[in-house]
Amino acid sequence: MTETAQLRKAWQMADVVDVRDSAFAVRTYLEQTEVRRYLERAAREIPLASAADIGAGYGRLSQVLAERAAVTGFEREPHFVAEATPLLPHIRFVNVPALTSLPVADAAFDFVLTFTVLQHLTNAVVREVVEEIQRIARSPAFVLLCEETDTEHLWGDLEDPSGMCTIGRSVAEYERLLAPFRLVETSPRRIEPTYPRPDVGTYMLFRAG
Ligand SMILES: C[S@@+](CC[C@H](N)C(=O)[O-])C[C@H]1O[C@@H](n2cnc3c(N)ncnc32)[C@H](O)[C@@H]1O
Repeated sequence: MTETAQLRKAWQMADVVDVRDSAFAVRTYLEQTEVRRYLERAAREIPLASAADIGAGYGRLSQVLAERAAVTGFEREPHFVAEATPLLPHIRFVNVPALTSLPVADAAFDFVLTFTVLQHLTNAVVREVVEEIQRIARSPAFVLLCEETDTEHLWGDLEDPSGMCTIGRSVAEYERLLAPFRLVETSPRRIEPTYPRPDVGTYMLFRAG
């Protein structure tokens, strides 16, 4: 573990998806199917050569992006990158100290995904990460967010960037954050029906340019 990872709360395998075994398999199937639907919509509208998965974890959804584009997964936890790299050798995983500064040129990607990542960032950090997403997105490009949108859902230390938190932000708040990118489609995040909370977030597709 790096020195920085020792000073802050490091994300572990069990934090990425909070269910195991059969429920995990069903959830990942449903989520991959919906990400694929959005990716196919984007591919009908613009050429997709490159895609980025921001906060890729161990590449659960990066695999879907790789069906249509050359994918770079950016991830802060080195153990997720170490896990994903040999399993998904066709995807480039890059370990970054923070998602606020990504080691790529401006306008590098046609499609950018965050999947349950922005919801875990404090308000100060989320603004910086969104600016970085806007910097690396081409024009035209699509940005797909899947994030907690129930504003009652608040958990953890909401101010400490080294801690862990969940902050539900409304779709309207994401629209303000992502402007001038335009919100073009939303759908509810669907997961396994046995999960205790029915509302677990929203897919939000934005278009740049
Ligand atoms: C719930 S997991 C989702 C991972 C992946 N997108 C997926 O759906 O399988 C949240 C991801 O965000 C990353 N993350 C959480 N808080 C972060 C922060 N403050 N800075 C950078 N990355 C963070 C974690 O390392 C983890 O990979």
